[in-house]
Amino acid sequence: MNAILDEHQEYLALSGRFEKYASAIARTVKPGDVVADLGCGVGVLGLQCLQAGASHVYGIDHSGAIEIARETMRRAGLADRYSCLAGSTFTTQLPQPVDLIICDHVGFFGFDYGITEMLADGRKRFLKPGGEVMPRRIRLMLAGAEAMACRTRADFWESAAVPPEYHWLGEHGRNSRHRFGFSAADLCTASECIGEIDFRSDQPDLLSFSARLDVTRAARFDGLAGWFECELAPDVWMTNSPLDPDPIERPNAFLSAAEPFDVTSGDVIEVTIRIRRDADTIAWTIQPPGAAPRQKLSTWKSRVFGSLDLAATGDVAASLTPSGRALGTLLQMVDGQRSRTQIEEAMLASHATDFASAEQLREFVRRELARNARVDTPG
Ligand SMILES: C[S@@+](CC[C@H](N)C(=O)[O-])C[C@H]1O[C@@H](n2cnc3c(N)ncnc32)[C@H](O)[C@@H]1O
Repeated sequence: MNAILDEHQEYLALSGRFEKYASAIARTVKPGDVVADLGCGVGVLGLQCLQAGASHVYGIDHSGAIEIARETMRRAGLADRYSCLAGSTFTTQLPQPVDLIICDHVGFFGFDYGITEMLADGRKRFLKPGGEVMPRRIRLMLAGAEAMACRTRADFWESAAVPPEYHWLGEHGRNSRHRFGFSAADLCTASECIGEIDFRSDQPDLLSFSARLDVTRAARFDGLAGWFECELAPDVWMTNSPLDPDPIERPNAFLSAAEPFDVTSGDVIEVTIRIRRDADTIAWTIQPPGAAPRQKLSTWKSRVFGSLDLAATGDVAASLTPSGRALGTLLQMVDGQRSRTQIEEAMLASHATDFASAEQLREFVRRELARNARVDTPG
């Protein structure tokens, strides 16, 4: 539970964010509205909606944070107006359509925590015709960056701090999306809005953007700084822009150049960015000035594929690991009849040798039951 508290403490401590959502919620929620909070965590945004007059909130979260939301609403006397649904937003069903879908998955670059896919699914399955989504849209912002700390991060796997045996991961590091808190002084081009994602309308599977970045000073071009401007409600914008006087305190995204290069004021750097709607893959190209070849990078190239990925292609036969076998047995025992204690005892009888200790096996049963099973309480 400590890890969950730590995570949500971070979200709550993020200066600026809570106030922006409060202001957007106050403007959007109408008395009697029904709201779905996708990835509700401990439930803070849904709580704000209830306080703003919503009649009911459905909070959905696949982590243990949902239990904190449940207990908080019970203590606050709001349990009859806040339903906690443990599980993925993509598989959860709601008993009624909602007036508003709310979500805080804007990540560092605006789309990189999967909000586009999550809101598209929620809008299709949960929202009343004419209902609202929050955020409404994001503008994706980009600038060139010269920042030694970013370079160091991108090249980390080839650095002296890392044993040479791991230096083959250098390419993987440069093809990763990093998080970094840029300041205005780190930027060496003007910023550009490369495009907008409107969560109120359907989006293609692949989003493609291009931009021309005007270099404003001589610099060593290390890569791209990306951030978002996000419209939560009409006239309520939230941004993590290094150029904004009142940003929320969230880092930006850094997309590295394959190879840093020198630029001078007046140069133009051509950039393309392609994003899968589920944010699983981001691909970017950077065209340095002059005749230098275009640099092509992608988070796809940051992945290290293992036997499991190969199994997923369907070309090779896969077999279960000991914990996979144990999980198979465990799930078959969840039949609405057996108690957790009975399942633990049965698992100890059949799978004790797959775990280092009986306590580890019990912990495995508890964790997997919390993840995959539910207790049906009357009413
Ligand atoms: C950034 S936190 C935000 C929590 C809360 N909404 C807030 O504003 O403080 C995102 C939460 O979404 C949950 N989450 C992420 N993807 C999810 C999914 N597909 N289904 C359900 N929960 C999800 C995580 O477990 C986490 O608690």
